[in-house]
Amino acid sequence: TDIRVEVARYRPGQDEEPVFQGYDVPLVADWAVLDGLNYIKDQLDGSLSYRWSCRMGVCGSCGMTVNGEPRLTCGTFLTEFGGGPIRIEPLKGFPVIRDLVVDIDGFLAKLSSVRPWLVREGEELPLSAEYAQTPEQLEAYKQYSMCINCLLCYSACPVYVLDPDFLGPAAIALAQRYNLDSRDMGDRFDVLNQEDAVWGCTFVGECTRVCPKHVDPAEAIQRYKVTAALRSVLPWSRR
Ligand code: FES
Repeated sequence: TDIRVEVARYRPGQDEEPVFQGYDVPLVADWAVLDGLNYIKDQLDGSLSYRWSCRMGVCGSCGMTVNGEPRLTCGTFLTEFGGGPIRIEPLKGFPVIRDLVVDIDGFLAKLSSVRPWLVREGEELPLSAEYAQTPEQLEAYKQYSMCINCLLCYSACPVYVLDPDFLGPAAIALAQRYNLDSRDMGDRFDVLNQEDAVWGCTFVGECTRVCPKHVDPAEAIQRYKVTAALRSVLPWSRR
């Protein structure tokens, strides 16, 4: 048995608008949607463009819109869609480079803007210096360190889709990954306490619902709203 897979095809600058192209793909029980795309690419149409790498939910590169939902295509099975058809489009909210490949430069700039590294002040230690942590200290930020930068949370976020300048779920969760790390001495208040950052979030929670790694970015954002609000009355409180 085959399943019909309809894929958005688009070459900006050459095509007026995206069109759906249909392909029949074998409905194999253990094939992910990504396996279906690879079948199309290898057997039917080598011109199809999409990103993928690990095939195991680690690299974060295979995110696409599958029947209207942002999904990791390597973790979404063809059999989830009954008899089909399955519609595959690029992630919403990002400029399309070609077919299913989107431009992630804006997203990468947002990640960089939160200073995603351990900030240390007033010390000159050798690079080999150790900064021991207890399991409890690790637990305080570990959830936020599980992000694979797959962009699903942005594509699901109604604030981001309307306002591309919104700092967005993954970047704020990344900031909290460092804010809550006992080794970090940095301060990201200037970046986070903005209308286009935590205060732009309307707490719809779609980011958390679609996150394949259970990072819970919505919680990260609400938590920093409390931090920022406290700071307005207790200026010395930083975390
Ligand atoms: Fe790496 Fe899907 S291919 S997360």
